[in-house]
Amino acid sequence: MAAIIERQGVRVRATGAALAADVEGVDLAGALTPEMLGAITAAWGQHLVLRFRGQGLSDDDLMRFSRQLGELDWAPIAAARVRLPGEDRTVEAAPEGRQYVMVVSNVIEDGQPIGQLGAYEAIWHTDMSYIPEPPSASALYSLEVPPEGGDTGFCNLYLAYETLAPELRRQVAGRLCRHDASRNSAGELRRGFVDAPDASQTIGAEHPIIRTHPVTGRKALFLGRRRNAYVLDLPLAESEALLDALWAHCTRSEFSWYQQWRAGDLILWDNRCVMHRRDAFDPATRRVMHRTQIKGDRPF
Ligand code: SIN
Repeated sequence: MAAIIERQGVRVRATGAALAADVEGVDLAGALTPEMLGAITAAWGQHLVLRFRGQGLSDDDLMRFSRQLGELDWAPIAAARVRLPGEDRTVEAAPEGRQYVMVVSNVIEDGQPIGQLGAYEAIWHTDMSYIPEPPSASALYSLEVPPEGGDTGFCNLYLAYETLAPELRRQVAGRLCRHDASRNSAGELRRGFVDAPDASQTIGAEHPIIRTHPVTGRKALFLGRRRNAYVLDLPLAESEALLDALWAHCTRSEFSWYQQWRAGDLILWDNRCVMHRRDAFDPATRRVMHRTQIKGDRPF
């Protein structure tokens, strides 16, 4: 039986997996009292991923809720295509006030995709880790879900760090990794990028492999994406071998939990200690999600 904690009318039901909890008794479209927000942020700090089921959110509601957790970050605009709420067209770059909502969808309308990432598998990644100050958090809200597939997995990178073999921990201590900016998690080349000749030439931000969470003070592995990642100051073959070992460890099933989507779910996750991935789904079915992200700091 999952433990349920109730505070300020906010019920938190842990999944019992390595991370994630359901939060009940909260209408995210309504006003949250400071006490409710405190209960939500405390639960988030403890469980890293929170699920709020049965929500009915406009983009304004999604942005208002997200802003209570910090300043909104722009959607990954280099590739952004944004569906305007209430309008039947998409635009390449979002207009004022709508830069903050990324549409994740496989739906094609009038020959144009309304969002990003199609129906492909999205590989394990941390959102926008290829920029110097990656977003601290992301909130993904489901408007339409396919009958099957498209589940989103999350893994606990505190646990991955804490269980790292001593030899691996020694090898990564003080090391930086360059996070490739050229391709998204569905493998698509971002506009304006070309493929580097090899991973050591890749372009993207450089971050410590072991980072300290600025709020909890806990250490976590911070890997971004496997593709084209490069551990600085190592010969390429050594960097590849070290990254393979780290990825094999942190993607072990006991560190993860999977979300099976229903329309009206909002999932909030902490990019500073969580990675995520998505299963492929039937491209003939529809999946429409809206995502916001909260500004973060330079990892240390
Ligand atoms: C993402 O990587 O933000 C998308 C995850 C999903 O589509 O479930």
